[in-house]
Amino acid sequence: MTERKRILTGIRPTGSLHLGHYAGALENWVRLQRDYECSFLIADYQVSDYADDIARVRAAVWEVALDWLAVGLDPEGSSFVIESLVPEHTELTTLLSWFLPLGMLERNPTLKAEMADIETGDEKKKGRSVPIAFYTYPVMQVANILMPRAHLVPVGEDQLPHIELTRETARRFNREFKPIFPEPEALVGRVPRLVGTDGTAKMSKSRGNTIDLKDSADAVAKKIRGMYAGPPRGLDEPGKTAENPIFLYLEAFDPEQDEARNMAEQYERTGVPNKVLKDRLTTVLNTMLEPFRERRAYYEANMPLVREALADGTARYRAKAQETMALVRDALDLNYLEKH
Ligand code: TRP
Repeated sequence: MTERKRILTGIRPTGSLHLGHYAGALENWVRLQRDYECSFLIADYQVSDYADDIARVRAAVWEVALDWLAVGLDPEGSSFVIESLVPEHTELTTLLSWFLPLGMLERNPTLKAEMADIETGDEKKKGRSVPIAFYTYPVMQVANILMPRAHLVPVGEDQLPHIELTRETARRFNREFKPIFPEPEALVGRVPRLVGTDGTAKMSKSRGNTIDLKDSADAVAKKIRGMYAGPPRGLDEPGKTAENPIFLYLEAFDPEQDEARNMAEQYERTGVPNKVLKDRLTTVLNTMLEPFRERRAYYEANMPLVREALADGTARYRAKAQETMALVRDALDLNYLEKH
């Protein structure tokens, strides 16, 4: 059998995962896990913004693992990895930072946006001093992706600048030292940016506009009842689907796309009451989420299995990481004692 190509991707452990994560990335992970050798990273070195709340990070490590199992990631075929339990990541970060010019980080649009957030953003972040780790986290993300010598990185759209940085780093390293790293491709999910239930641009925990993968059927129904559905309209007035995020969700998740399109047409022509739309969306999402809830409940009742998934995946991955580090040290000629 020829060797499978490799995927490395990850998520920061800051809470449970939502529909935006699913449509933007997770769905791809589930689809690709059979064809690729996958490493899924719980990126707990990337939580400097929660350094004063490690209890939350600790809880989120388990939440994320449960969400991954719930959506159907297979912890035996793939590796679930806790980043900080593979300290090789820090070593590779240090070595790579020798070669990456600071300007490359200063131009990184995701980093710039996050920086601006700290300077002018919401209450929690505003006025905080910027930790050094904030400058180095993209380098560590590069190290994450290069560690298993990954070929493909399925991620949300906001991560693209980091993948580009990884490609540049791999090219440089291969050219200047030894060609050991593939130049990884990024793959963005079907819905790169899902609107929030409040109708604002992005579903995100900090905005409180999420539908979580672990939400109960009742919680989903309630969130949808309260969901923004465009500017106020009379019951039978036509509306513009573009102004009503319910249609974006139906487009993203309704398996009966023909029917969803008919409904959209009718909405624009003669109007459809919001309640009808919301009821449909509730059915669609609860049908999709139910198998996730069942798998989650199984693992919640069998937490030793979750622990085993994390422990085994991390151990398997660390062995690979050590192989890569041996190649890197050799390429950089750092084996002082071996070549005396
Ligand atoms: N930065 C990513 C996020 O905020 C998480 C992450 C860490 C990651 N390391 C990675 C994603 C490597 C892809 C590849 O969600």
